[in-house]
Amino acid sequence: MDTVWLDEERNMLMYIDQTKLPNSVEVRECCDIFKLVDIIQRLAIRGAPAIGVGAAIGLYAAACRFEDETPEAFYYTLRKCERLLKDSRPTAVNLAVAVDRMMNAAKRAKRYGINTMIAGMRREARNIYNEDIATCKRIGEHGATLLRDGMSVLTHCNAGRLAAVRYGTALAPIYVATEQGKLIHVFVDETRPLLQGARLTAFELHDSNIPVTLQCDNMAASIMKTGRVGMIFVGADRVAANGDTANKIGTSGLAIIAKHYGVPFYVCAPFTTIDFNCATGDDIVIEQRDEYEVTDLHYEKRMAPPGIGVYNPAFDVTPHELITGIITERGIFSVEQLIEQK
Ligand code: MRU
Repeated sequence: MDTVWLDEERNMLMYIDQTKLPNSVEVRECCDIFKLVDIIQRLAIRGAPAIGVGAAIGLYAAACRFEDETPEAFYYTLRKCERLLKDSRPTAVNLAVAVDRMMNAAKRAKRYGINTMIAGMRREARNIYNEDIATCKRIGEHGATLLRDGMSVLTHCNAGRLAAVRYGTALAPIYVATEQGKLIHVFVDETRPLLQGARLTAFELHDSNIPVTLQCDNMAASIMKTGRVGMIFVGADRVAANGDTANKIGTSGLAIIAKHYGVPFYVCAPFTTIDFNCATGDDIVIEQRDEYEVTDLHYEKRMAPPGIGVYNPAFDVTPHELITGIITERGIFSVEQLIEQK
C-alpha cells in the first residue's frame, strides 16, 4: 500500500494515518482544505516527500469541490488554500514546491475555464505522485552502491516509504540493497519527541523482514564507538545552497558524533530538496512545535512537572562540513560537487 494516493473515481486524497502506527494501519480520506492542513500539522501525513504529494492530491480533491463560478474566483480560492498549506509546515521545501506546481497548473489553464483548470491540476498531482516514486527508486539504486553485504546502517527519524509514496529516501538504498540479495541491518534511533523511528521506521523495516535494532537517541554515540555502524543515512527537509541540511531534530548531533568516530554520514534526498534560493542553513525556517510533545507521552501521560519551559524545534541544521555526501536521483554528490550544480 502507498502512503498517500488519489482515489481516481471519487477525486479523494487517501492516506495512511501515521498517528495510529504501528498499532493499527488506518486508511483515511480527505477532500477539505482545513482538514488537509490539520492532517499535515498533526503529522497524520508526514515526511517531506509525502507532505508534498499529499498536499498536491489534497489540493486537487478540495478544488474539485469549490463552488466558484468564474476562473478568477476559482483561482482566488486556490490562492487562499495555497497560503494555508504553505504555512502549515514551513521547513520542508517539498510542500511549497508541490503547491507551486499545482498553482501553476491551474494558472496555465485559466483562460480555458474551471474544468480545464481542474483537469490540469489532476494531471499535475499525478505527475508529482509518479515522480516521487521514480525519484525515490533512483535514490535507492545510487545509495545501494555504497552498501556491502552484512553492513549495518544507522538512521534517524523516518525517511522510509512512510515518508514518501513508496521506497522513501534514506531507507530506499536499504530496500534496493536487500532486493539485490545483500543482508543489511539497521540501527534505528527512536527519535524523540514523536518517536518516528520507533513507531514508523522500525515498523516498516520489520514489516519488510529487514533486521532492525531500536535504540534511544542518546545511545547513538555508544553504538558508534563499538565500530558496528558502517554508515549513516538520513533524509532531508531542505538543503541550503552551501549543503547545510535541515532534517529531524537530533540529526546534527548524530553527524557530530559520526565525525568523531569516522562514520560516513550521508543525506538522501530528491534533487528538488536543494533550495538554491537559501544560501545557508541559517536561512532555513525551523518549525517550532507544541510543548506537550515534550512534556507528555503522546498527549496522554504527563511526564514533566507543570509550569516548566520547553524547547521543541522539529528540525535542526547539520553543517555541510559534517556531510560525507548527498545521495539524489541524479547520483551521489559531495557538498563541493553539489554547489557546482547550481
Ligand atoms: O516531522 P516529520 O516526521 O515530518 O519529520 C520527517 C523528517 O525529518 C524526515 O527525515 C524528512 O522529512 C525526510 S523524509 C524522506
